[in-house]
Amino acid sequence: MAGLTDRPYRDVCRSFGAGLTTSEMLASDTSLWKSNKSSTRLISKDEAEPRCAQIVGTDPYIMAEAAKRCADQGVQILDINMGCPAKKVCNKAAGSALMQYPERVEDILSSVVSAVELPITLKIRTGWSNKNKNALEIAHIAEESGIVALSIHGRSREEGFMGHAEYETIRAVKQQSKIPIIANGDIITMQDAVFILKYTQVDGLLLGRITKGRPWIFEEMNHYLSTNEVKKPLSKNKQIKTAIEHISTIHRHYKSALRVKVARKHIACYLNTMSTQLTVRKDILRDIFTAKTPFEQLEKFSQALKGLPNFPKTRDSITKVVIL
Ligand SMILES: Cc1cc2nc3c(=O)[nH]c(=O)nc-3n(C[C@H](O)[C@H](O)[C@H](O)COP(=O)(O)O)c2cc1C
Repeated sequence: MAGLTDRPYRDVCRSFGAGLTTSEMLASDTSLWKSNKSSTRLISKDEAEPRCAQIVGTDPYIMAEAAKRCADQGVQILDINMGCPAKKVCNKAAGSALMQYPERVEDILSSVVSAVELPITLKIRTGWSNKNKNALEIAHIAEESGIVALSIHGRSREEGFMGHAEYETIRAVKQQSKIPIIANGDIITMQDAVFILKYTQVDGLLLGRITKGRPWIFEEMNHYLSTNEVKKPLSKNKQIKTAIEHISTIHRHYKSALRVKVARKHIACYLNTMSTQLTVRKDILRDIFTAKTPFEQLEKFSQALKGLPNFPKTRDSITKVVIL
């Protein structure tokens, strides 16, 4: 997820058992990679394997060049984004807009697959519009072009993030495909996971928004899927420790003003997960968002978590976290 699944976030999700994480999407125009924003999106060789990056773009040649650069930088699996519905991406005929142009899809995929030795995967939606759900056609092209796995968000581009994802189309794609298919969209509960796996027979599940401020969901889901039993929830102390360590890592990962800015999003996500009281959350966030330095921000966040209702009073783990 662009703006969220940066290196610190991927690491914390992996630590709870996420089998594969992917970088935030990178524009295929590599001249943009030097910018402060893009440079923090690049994969580095010390990240847990397999290292997977995602690119988005519209020109087969430029996409192939970006793939080569990714390979040079230690990427081990490259994902191509044809699922993003954002206007600024679709207006350039990239992301999910490409699903309107099957021939262009074929050109891009063959060009990228032949440019590098890496396994290339693809992310799509069910189609461009509800009247034109052509995931089956695109999946066929993908397989013929040498794509090794395909993930599908169960909404069309037209739907954006509205309504509920559907899994019929994903099921149909799975039935016709030889490559692994990964289902995505609105997988929130353990029961959702079981239902979707059974109904679609897919090979894997991709979790997005539910992981925000809740990276331990991977542990819970893996446990449920392998034992059919609900795992005891992660203790509040461990949730707090995870959140604080994650925010500290963000502070170390980014430079200057970005440190406090990026951390804010994740702080809000953790508070969303840990506090059910909207008014409490609003007050806390207002206060934390006034923090100007990473130190001040982390202090305020720690104090806020300690004060949340229903949380145990002693929290030694927090005071041991290294503060920048
Ligand atoms: C803020 C945000 C950023 C996203 N960025 C990306 C992205 O960069 N690449 C991508 O393939 N999907 C991206 N997505 C889509 C998600 O990967 C996923 O397909 C979608 O949220 C549906 O799954 P979910 O219901 O589990 O969240 C993004 C979604 C959100 C909410």
